[in-house]
Amino acid sequence: MCGIFAYLGPNEKAAEIVLKGLKKLEYRGYDSWGIAAQMEGGDFVIEKHVGKISEVINLEEKMTHSSHLAMGHSRWATHGGVTQYNAHPHTSEDQDVVVVHNGIFENYLELKEALIAKGHQFRSETDSEVFAHLIEEELEEGFETAFTRACKKVTGRFAILALHKGENKLIAARRGSPLIVGKADDGALFVASDVPAFLEYTKKIQYLDDNQMVTLTEGRAHFYDLETGSPIEKRLISIDWKEEEAEKGAYAHFMLKEIMEQKETLARAINADPELIQKATAMINKAYGTTLVGCGTAGKVAMVGEYLFANVAKKHVNVKFGSEFKSARHFLTDRSLIIAISQSGETADTLEALEIAKSKGAKIISIVNVETSTMARMSDLVIPLKAGPEKAVASTKATTSQLAILTLLAYAVAGRANEGKQLLIESEGKLNDLLNPRYEAHIEAVADQIKDAQDIMIIGRDMNFPIALESAIKLQEVSYIHAEGFAGGELKHGPIALISEGTPCIVIAPNDEYKAEILSNAMELKARGALLIGISPDNAEIFDIWIKVPSVGNASPILDLIPIQILAYKLAVARQTNPDMPRNLAKSVTVK
Ligand code: G6P
Repeated sequence: MCGIFAYLGPNEKAAEIVLKGLKKLEYRGYDSWGIAAQMEGGDFVIEKHVGKISEVINLEEKMTHSSHLAMGHSRWATHGGVTQYNAHPHTSEDQDVVVVHNGIFENYLELKEALIAKGHQFRSETDSEVFAHLIEEELEEGFETAFTRACKKVTGRFAILALHKGENKLIAARRGSPLIVGKADDGALFVASDVPAFLEYTKKIQYLDDNQMVTLTEGRAHFYDLETGSPIEKRLISIDWKEEEAEKGAYAHFMLKEIMEQKETLARAINADPELIQKATAMINKAYGTTLVGCGTAGKVAMVGEYLFANVAKKHVNVKFGSEFKSARHFLTDRSLIIAISQSGETADTLEALEIAKSKGAKIISIVNVETSTMARMSDLVIPLKAGPEKAVASTKATTSQLAILTLLAYAVAGRANEGKQLLIESEGKLNDLLNPRYEAHIEAVADQIKDAQDIMIIGRDMNFPIALESAIKLQEVSYIHAEGFAGGELKHGPIALISEGTPCIVIAPNDEYKAEILSNAMELKARGALLIGISPDNAEIFDIWIKVPSVGNASPILDLIPIQILAYKLAVARQTNPDMPRNLAKSVTVK
């Protein structure tokens, strides 16, 4: 949530470099953007604009100033509306201190009142601006001291970067929100919320952990503990991300590219290191209570996990959304196990759940895509998804990989690891039936037929109930059509009142023991005028539209989801919305 990127190095086009890198972080927030560059002589040039950085034409021409130090920010608004004033960077009263911030300063109102009482005037409604004023207050003690004192005064989760006029230095700190330092061979240094911002310059990185700060001066990055001020030695890590993986290439949108990539990504997940699966299985078997945790799509994957463990391994596991985890603290002990599911590994609510679990001594396994994320670094065991960068806000390839890993684990816990893997290999072999131009064209025609609908309902049973919930998320977030998922049997307890003539209703009907029941739920909808779209291995007389999916037993949640992902994408295109950057959303939610 909010993208931050800074450059300090030999290239005099710092502003342009930051601008280009910021575009690659736009998926983190895209309400407004801004860049501050330090000119020779120490003055700042600041550009701030409302809207998406990628939509500004001739952007490069805007930032041609000669500068070796610049930082930028792409915003997802929390405090204060989407205005140019509220766009970052923010400055101190005298404009000598410039900051960009990701996160929330929870006590900003109190701090702001105290600063106003001292005569400070504020230009924005943001919580972030207080930080520049707090530094300004203490500058007599030097920039570093003023910065650390400001960090000690603010509460909440944050990643913060600051510059001071005339000093060729950048200071950054984190408590809860991600920050990564990149080091290029020519001595250039980068600080970013995520790696793609500087991937074209370097793959050598150093991670900031919570309550740590870094000062960048020419060619050198010094890390410190924020509380004690003691220096910290950091390992330089080489990452194996490929630049082209973070670009959309010939595809119109990242979302479509990532849907299509599932042929490879699913295969990678299925081939997860067997030793890791074994270790995780031992931890699950040993634990006194396992809880699956995730947010958004990952939360729905966690719900599928509960069914998988029940059906395959006859084992009860708990499920909690990250934001609803707190009550679990009452029963967690040092024998509990938490399995965190996340694409980014940075979602604030999931991280908080892990912090709670850790404070109780519980063990943590994370199933994450970003292997070097905070979540991964907090875990006792990490099972990486290896899906490559996922940039579209709506998660697709990471989701199916998470489902595959949970399927492997459920089978391994049941003592049938090979059977699980074989099932997944066979299912993955059938992906070509779904990811081909003919299938895509069929779904595009369905999208055209229902694109003006007010509401879309989705029903499923058992493992496909959470898939109905996840389908609703996909449709809502990119098409903006009101969509809701239900357990097939729950419909008649209320939601059926919403069905009227022509309401599109998607019925997920795999060949499982619930087929007859879900089809009779579908009949109940049809009797009220619904337009039935069946996602099923076989056509049924009651379906108005049939979208065929292969019959793959316990792997059906994975394959049933794919036509819905395509449908959501096609609806977005038909309704002329931007599927990669849906309104009001952000890819990585680093605030609670
Ligand atoms: C955001 C994204 C979703 C994602 C959720 C959890 O809401 O838009 O696609 O499912 O965060 O993110 P995570 O990175 O933890 O999987």
